[in-house]
Amino acid sequence: MSDQYSVSPALLRPFSPPPRLLMGPGPITVDPRVLRAMSAQLVGQYDPAMTQCMNETMALYRGVFKTKNQWTLLIDGTSRAGIEAVLISLLEPGDKILVPVFGRFGHLLCEIAERCGAEVHQIHKEWGEVFSPDEIETAIKKIQPKVLAIVQGDTSTTMLQPLEQLGEICARNGVLFYSDATASIGGNPFETDVWQLDAVSVGLQKCLCGPSGSAPISLSEKAVAAIRKRRHIEAGIRTANHVEGSGRRIASNYFDLGMIMDYWGEERLNHHTEATTMLYGARECARILLEEGVEHAIERHRVHGSAMAQGLAAMNLKLFGDQSKKMHNVVGVYIPDGVAGEAVRSSMLNDFGIEIGTSFGPLHGKIWRIGTMGYNARKDAVLQTLIALEAVLRRAGHSQTANAGVDTAMNIYAQEGY
Ligand SMILES: Cc1ncc(COP(=O)(O)O)c(C=O)c1O
Repeated sequence: MSDQYSVSPALLRPFSPPPRLLMGPGPITVDPRVLRAMSAQLVGQYDPAMTQCMNETMALYRGVFKTKNQWTLLIDGTSRAGIEAVLISLLEPGDKILVPVFGRFGHLLCEIAERCGAEVHQIHKEWGEVFSPDEIETAIKKIQPKVLAIVQGDTSTTMLQPLEQLGEICARNGVLFYSDATASIGGNPFETDVWQLDAVSVGLQKCLCGPSGSAPISLSEKAVAAIRKRRHIEAGIRTANHVEGSGRRIASNYFDLGMIMDYWGEERLNHHTEATTMLYGARECARILLEEGVEHAIERHRVHGSAMAQGLAAMNLKLFGDQSKKMHNVVGVYIPDGVAGEAVRSSMLNDFGIEIGTSFGPLHGKIWRIGTMGYNARKDAVLQTLIALEAVLRRAGHSQTANAGVDTAMNIYAQEGY
């Protein structure tokens, strides 16, 4: 009798991913050092070696975020796990939150805040633009929210929202200031303490050179005080010495930052089973960035981003948006008239093994997004992408001067001493 649950023999072969150069808006090709760190064997959750690794990871991420915040730790999950953890822990049903939306990920902040039961107020900019501090302050004064939540770099539009002045505005108006810097950290300036952020969350899969699956966050004392008021300890581990907060219990168990702080803190109160392999990877991402130096990494992203953008422009392609306002690590480029955008992406992938990005929402079908980030913010990766794209576009009938893209990029590298 045949086994109705038997699987095809082909499925019993191990998965072997094809070699790819990931030059889209993220994820990007992982730094081999991170892969190596992630292949290490597990240790037990309360092994002193594990505790040490967690403490070191907190210290390393303080360097990445540029903060003295004690509560700088990892949320297990992709970047949106960090967003959910911050918002569900800061917001109680009915609390007001202001979200300035300038791309897809602003909409994501609104959606998550709505699910927290918050009263969500949005202000909008056309995709490709960012907000001035005055526009945000005017909205804060009118709405008087508990939290301002704003994306720093929105990969959907490639734009970088200036945050420098927002912390002071929030502090003056008694508002908690949160930013999602997933796409921008490590490749663009980010100053948690100097810019007076109360909460920040990121992911590994952009300029930090890692895979997605861990979301580093950092919390100011003000944010921690708000969360501690809602402290709750699970019945199975609570003792007579534990004191619960007087506020409403946080609506998620997995993303309860009070419990997660108790787990990363000295008491090591049991919460989830640590995603140890991701912890190893996240620790290595931070180590690599700090070993290079944050300022050096930002400058590296600037140079390779500029070589890519100017190389594309020299190929008779039009760049999307105000280039002075975009992130260093990703550029939008209009699909030329008469060229089938998806056919070009397929040829790049299938003929050259290079992935470039499509786009969402109002930009869907209009632009490609090309990243130069993390491990792929490198000269050889940029030049290979430009050469391949030139060949694919030539075959698609796009008119351009031969070698203009790669020559322009090489000239930039010569000027920059790379
Ligand atoms: C700015 C920003 N926020 C959030 C996310 C969501 O991240 P994840 O897919 O890791 O949950 C992304 C992913 O591209 C992003 O670019």
